[in-house]
Formats: sequence, C-alpha cells, structure tokens
Amino acid sequence: MPERINVNGTITPPERAAVPALDRGFLFGDSVYETIRTYGGRPFRLRDHLERLRRSAERLGIPHAAAPVEIEREILRTVADAGGGDAVVRVVLSRGPGPIGYATDGCGPPTAVVYVRPCPPLPDGWRGEGVDVAIVGVRRNSAAALDPAIKSSNLLNNFLAWSEGRRLGAFEPILLNAEERLTEGASSNVFLVRSGRLLTPRLEDGLLEGITRAVVLDLARRHGIPAEEASLGPDDLRGADEAFLTSTLKGIVPVRRCDGWPIRDGRPGPVTRRLLDLFDAAVQEETKAGSAPGSTLR
Ligand code: PDD
Repeated sequence: MPERINVNGTITPPERAAVPALDRGFLFGDSVYETIRTYGGRPFRLRDHLERLRRSAERLGIPHAAAPVEIEREILRTVADAGGGDAVVRVVLSRGPGPIGYATDGCGPPTAVVYVRPCPPLPDGWRGEGVDVAIVGVRRNSAAALDPAIKSSNLLNNFLAWSEGRRLGAFEPILLNAEERLTEGASSNVFLVRSGRLLTPRLEDGLLEGITRAVVLDLARRHGIPAEEASLGPDDLRGADEAFLTSTLKGIVPVRRCDGWPIRDGRPGPVTRRLLDLFDAAVQEETKAGSAPGSTLR
C-alpha cells in the first residue's frame, strides 16, 4: 500500500505534501489530531474519533467548522486512494496560517491533513509475551494546564516521558500526575487486574479518554468482568495480577514487567487474554463489510 497525504483536499505522495511555514500547528503545536485504524479499508470507530477531534478543537477554540474540507469525506477518500487495506490514519487539524504572535485575528482557515500509511505489523511477542513499562519522573500535564483530555499535537511532554522510558529500557513510559496517581502511557491508556477486577485510572486524574479504553470497559461490563475507573497509585500497577496497555495503533498489549519487576509471573493473564479475544471479535464484527460503524457496541 502506498502512503498518501491529503492537505486541505489535495492528495499527494508524502514527499510532495507541505504545510505553510507560518501555520500555527508548526509555530505553536496549535493543532489537534486523531490516529485511526482501518481494517480492510474500513475505519474502526470513525465516529468516535471524529467526535473527539471536534471536542479537542472546541476546547482550544480551533474553528473546526471552518475547515476548508469535510474531514470524514477526506479520510475515506485518502484511504481509498491508498488502496484500502490495514492502514493507520493520522488526521491533524491546525488553526491554520496566521501572523506570528498569539492573537488569532487574521489566522486561518484551519489546515486539515490526513496521512494514510500501511499499519506497521506488531512486533513478534507483543501479544503473546507482553512489553515492559516503567513509571517515569516526567509528570502528565495538569488538567489545569494543557488538559490531557485534549488530543493536541503539542506532544513534547509525552516525548520527554517516552525518551525517559526508553532510557530505562521500557517500551512505554507510565506517567503519574502531580499527586503521584497513575494516568496513562505516552501514547496509550493503562489497565490492571486485581483479584479478577479490571481497573483503569479515572479521567479526573488527568488523561486522554481513549477510544480503545472505552471499548475495553464496555466489553468487560458486557461480558461480566467487573470493571472500574479508579484513582490508582504506582504500587497498584507494580503489584497487579495483570496489566495491559490500550491504543488505536496497538489494540491491547499485555504488560510483562513494570520497572524491571514481572507483573505476577510475567505472562499475560486470563483476563487480559479474554479481553484480547473479545476485542479482536468486536473489531472484526464492526469492520466487516455491511456493518454500520460502531454498531455492535453502542
Ligand atoms: N495515541 N493516551 C494517549 C496520551 C494517547 O496518545 C493515546 C493514543 C491513547 C489511546 O487512545 P486511543 O485508544 O483513542 O487510541 C491514550 C495514538 C494512537 C497516537 O498517539 O498516535
């Protein structure tokens, strides 16, 4: 599958795609984004992603409705142009070009970018063995600063956490908030299992409301796995019976070790494995030809 980039409705190969140097997305990270996965050319949970994009833009005052193109249409058009298949779609909506400075007068219209690339295969062993995480020193932004609930492209804090995690030999860092409560990974949500109960940090502790997280919580509740959003500390994760990460790109990935210590016996546990199966089945069901988007779970 070739890669394609769509800038305000014009689709080109990546090397020909460009955004103006005075775009506020470039100058200030003044943009919001979504990562969407397609299976056989069909986007999973497209409506939920578009709705979150709209909410993120609204929180930053980016005039979403003034985008020069209809974003859903451009996503579908670009995926089709790349030949469908299993793709990752990055949608970015910036406030657009404008005079340098914070004032937004004379700024815009918003720039809409859709980047479609083949989905990288998950490395061997991720699903079967799990990955290592480390609780890092970099803290998740306070919700009173750039609220983590906003999926903004201003990702430097996540990048710093990710770099620290890699230095510690971890695949994904886990960030605490200023009160030392668990929040999430640099690009994933985190879950743990304790005595058969599924637990995940509550939104009030400052994190992105992941779409995969919502699907997993919904699947657990529908299939009789007690599930709760709670305020959790680092020792809840280190001492968990099972743990896993969720994201659009990765789906569900078991956690093998935290801070170098195995989670239980260091092997994906029964609740994680059950949710992996349920998640795969939900994705298949929702993205098979003829099914309405998101129809099986809501
Ligand atoms: N990341 N938390 C953060 C900080 C994220 O960046 C992401 C997603 C998630 C998981 O959300 P979802 O299930 O809706 O993908 C949680 C995407 C994949 C990215 O950065 O490309």
